[in-house]
Amino acid sequence: MISIRKAELKDLEMILPIENECFISPWKESDLKYELTENPVNKFYVLDDEGKVVGFLNFMITFNSATISQIAVTKLYRHQGLALKLMEQMFLDLPKDGDEVVEFVTLEVRKSNVAAISLYKKCGFEIIVDKKAYYPDGEDAVYMVKRM
Ligand SMILES: CC(C)(COP(=O)(O)OP(=O)(O)OC[C@H]1O[C@@H](n2cnc3c(N)ncnc32)[C@H](O)[C@@H]1OP(=O)(O)O)[C@@H](O)C(=O)NCCC(=O)NCCS
Repeated sequence: MISIRKAELKDLEMILPIENECFISPWKESDLKYELTENPVNKFYVLDDEGKVVGFLNFMITFNSATISQIAVTKLYRHQGLALKLMEQMFLDLPKDGDEVVEFVTLEVRKSNVAAISLYKKCGFEIIVDKKAYYPDGEDAVYMVKRM
């Protein structure tokens, strides 16, 4: 059975190959370790299939907004609604009252990333603007926002 749980440092060795498989400019091990252990505003979930990490979602909450840093599902596990489940879990867990209520979720995604843009639209995100040459290789980003 596949479940979603908070990521722990011991998951890093299974997160890293997924990072390298899924992204054109993967984060370094040290960056992921920082997110898992030190970044006070980071939240990190993994998809766990009987002890095997098969995907993850990594986001930050700052004041009234959350920002998705990365979402990834390893190839063999795609097209089963797992990315959607990760996103739904994040929406459920966002603070909804008190001083830290999250009103917006934002993200940047490569303009060519049809799968991710479709996923985000399905989750209620709207395209706000293109950010020209946002990535180191010169590709534009699409900036998307969902109002909670
Ligand atoms: C984007 C990604 C996370 C989707 O994971 P997934 O578990 O296969 O997605 P789901 O099965 O939950 O799909 C949900 C929706 O996303 C969209 N989607 C997913 N894969 C798609 C594809 N290959 N083409 C078009 N739309 C796609 C669809 O709208 C889909 O809904 P549908 O099944 O009703 O059509 C996965 O392809 C991935 O890891 N890609 C590499 C990393 C990446 O680009 N991350 C996003 C930028 S941070």
